[in-house]
Amino acid sequence: MSDKKGRAELLENIDAKFRAVDRDADTFLEGFQHAKLLTYWDYIQTDVLLNLQTQRTVFPDEMVFIAYHQINELLFKLILWELNQLAEKQDLTAAFFEEKLRRASRYFDMLTTSFTIMKDGMDPKQYEQFRHTLAPASGFQSVQYRYIELASTELINLIDLRYRHTIDRNTPYEHAFEHMYWQAAGKDFETGKKSILLKDFEDRYKEDLLDFMSAHNTKNVWTLYKSMPDKVKQNQELIDAMRHYDYTVNVTWVLAHYNTAKHYIEGDGKSGEATGGSDWKKYMHPKYQKRIFFPELWTANEIDNWGVND
Ligand code: HEM
Repeated sequence: MSDKKGRAELLENIDAKFRAVDRDADTFLEGFQHAKLLTYWDYIQTDVLLNLQTQRTVFPDEMVFIAYHQINELLFKLILWELNQLAEKQDLTAAFFEEKLRRASRYFDMLTTSFTIMKDGMDPKQYEQFRHTLAPASGFQSVQYRYIELASTELINLIDLRYRHTIDRNTPYEHAFEHMYWQAAGKDFETGKKSILLKDFEDRYKEDLLDFMSAHNTKNVWTLYKSMPDKVKQNQELIDAMRHYDYTVNVTWVLAHYNTAKHYIEGDGKSGEATGGSDWKKYMHPKYQKRIFFPELWTANEIDNWGVND
């Protein structure tokens, strides 16, 4: 674009852009001649980013713990970025659906394969000490993780198995919310009493979660897939991609996480108690939670053995 004709056309386009909003392009061009040239560090905000890791103790491995959680939250953000575009797409096509699903899946693959950073990348003795300063906080309180679930499947698939038969599509969101599978981490269903882990989380995010549930009720990945023409739904490659995403999020990641918790929380001289205070051994295992985003893409046998033989 360095020739004169190209330059003239460019200036004409800039003029037209500013005329369209009743502004004079010359003001913009004058400002532009004094503007600082962009640098990598200003654009990526490296200084801000690298100053967000604030340790609460002196143990070096606490840095690994904080930074890896932040990396997870960034990847959660990118997953939601894709799933939200899918949810908002007018005139959804099979190609767009597949592309967004594969992108979300790729990010979750990265979360799964990198989980060894948590399991093997910290000294258990250091972890045992710094984790006491974290209670009652827990990764359980990651709202983006809940948004990913709600953007991926219908509410019914996230209801605690014990209550699923009592809930149908017309149940108010508030009632469904009280029976989400994750309530089991901190709620006594007999008395209704909630742990501080759960209370803090709900005080901060309940309204946002109810709004998100309502917005994604008919725009989650599973409902959108079911709305596709039969020819698309029966495409084996797409089915494989859907199953891969479901399995990665709900079995592979969950087991990597569960085995990490076991590695640090259980064992010689350790309390066996999680910072969030849940009955974690039972709660976290996929065979107990039975979270499955796309149930109709699995056989009865696969569902029965969900997470059992891995
Ligand atoms: C040493 C590493 C980790 C340990 C020991 C651990 C342990 C636990 C435990 C015991 C729970 C159950 C709730 C509780 O009582 O606290 C939990 C839940 C959770 N953690 Fe972690 N975690 C670790 C790393 C991570 C990382 C890196 C993430 C990524 C953000 C994460 C995200 C979550 C989520 C989303 C839940 C809720 C899962 C569910 O509801 O099924 N955790 N974690």
